[in-house]
Amino acid sequence: MKYRRIKGTKDLLPADSPTWRWLVSVICQILETYGYLEIRTPIFESTELFVRSIGETTDIVEKEMYTFTDRGRRSLTLRPEGTAPVMRAILEDKIRIPTRLYYYGGMYRQERPQKGRLREFFQIGIEYVGNPSPFADREVIEIGDRIVKRFGIKDVKLLVNSIGCPRCRSPYYGQLNTFLKKNFSSLCADCQRRTAKNPMRFFDCKEEKCLGIRDHAPKITEFLCPECNNHYQELKGYLEKSSIAYQESPGLARGLDYYTRTVFEFIAPDLGAQNAIIGGGRYDLLIELFGGRSTPAVGFALGIERLHLLIKDRIEPKPSIFIIQIGGLYQEALSTQRTLQKKGEVVILGDPNMSLKKQLRQADRLNSRWAILIGSEELKKGKYILRDMESGEQRECSREEIISHFS
Ligand code: HAM
Repeated sequence: MKYRRIKGTKDLLPADSPTWRWLVSVICQILETYGYLEIRTPIFESTELFVRSIGETTDIVEKEMYTFTDRGRRSLTLRPEGTAPVMRAILEDKIRIPTRLYYYGGMYRQERPQKGRLREFFQIGIEYVGNPSPFADREVIEIGDRIVKRFGIKDVKLLVNSIGCPRCRSPYYGQLNTFLKKNFSSLCADCQRRTAKNPMRFFDCKEEKCLGIRDHAPKITEFLCPECNNHYQELKGYLEKSSIAYQESPGLARGLDYYTRTVFEFIAPDLGAQNAIIGGGRYDLLIELFGGRSTPAVGFALGIERLHLLIKDRIEPKPSIFIIQIGGLYQEALSTQRTLQKKGEVVILGDPNMSLKKQLRQADRLNSRWAILIGSEELKKGKYILRDMESGEQRECSREEIISHFS
């Protein structure tokens, strides 16, 4: 074979596409019942947009972005995530705040491919922009919870944490830096290099060496300023009142720099190493960073491939009806096709230039459930033939009988 898929990408095959479409449409329906409306942003943006928002010392920006120079010598990047582009659009398109938005589309990160980790993957994300209250965080988390429950995914855990604001981080970083310096020789090369600039990134590291000392690191929640602490306590209270089970996870920092206060993940053990189905949090300073007015916001994104991996029920394509035409009865065939299609049936038209035998073979190959034979002999009596492709039985029926058979 001359050409192959690029490593880390996938074809969505016809056998899987009905399940995929169903997942996406059920999630979009849920989001719309909460008042979220779709926004679609371009697949590429200026590189600077992602560097500024995600952060220079994050894995995504340091190692994973698909960045290229276009013919106009601009540095562009295939979007690695959807939050920054949506915030850019809010400012550029002057979308009124408060707003609830959702998006669906491909994201691109050059990570090491493994189960549930791709270089092109699809996310559905939501962003609730303009509400600083923990009640907004609760709404976003509740929607995530609704989605995982809707698909009956087993043993999903919700991890939550608060990573505070710049005010609480400054004393925290002092302590964390002391801890990191003390353990410098035990850190992996990446952490040795970048934690001096951005100590929070220590919590994203998946290296055994770093994981081993992580539990002993000082916890940000012990350094929260009174406002961030109240926000976090209120959120936990709301979750309890909404009967949403959660687990506090003091080491959860998330791999993007824009988060403030709440961060959370829904994890599913069945996924293995890449166990996060949903990841999100609050990012109150991002719009300001882009030159807008101070605007609080909170959101999440869900990885569709990961959800797809967890769904046991498969949606089968709707069985089709195949119309076989013999003797050039094209008008009859066409009008029967249209009538049945209007009733929601899948109707495939045989080619009148093919013999009866060839058309039947096609119906068989296409796995059609029924065949309707329209031939001049039967038509003289006002009849068609309806053939059950599974049993091979067939009978003469009037056009009306056939239409009502599929009603
Ligand atoms: P994220 O945690 O980077 O957050 O990605 C969210 C979800 O996308 C993950 O939980 C996972 O299901 C899926 N995902 C991420 N990387 C991959 C990959 N390489 N292959 C397959 N699936 C993947 C964000 O992207 C934030 N923008 C979420 C957010 C929205 N925060 C606030 N608003």
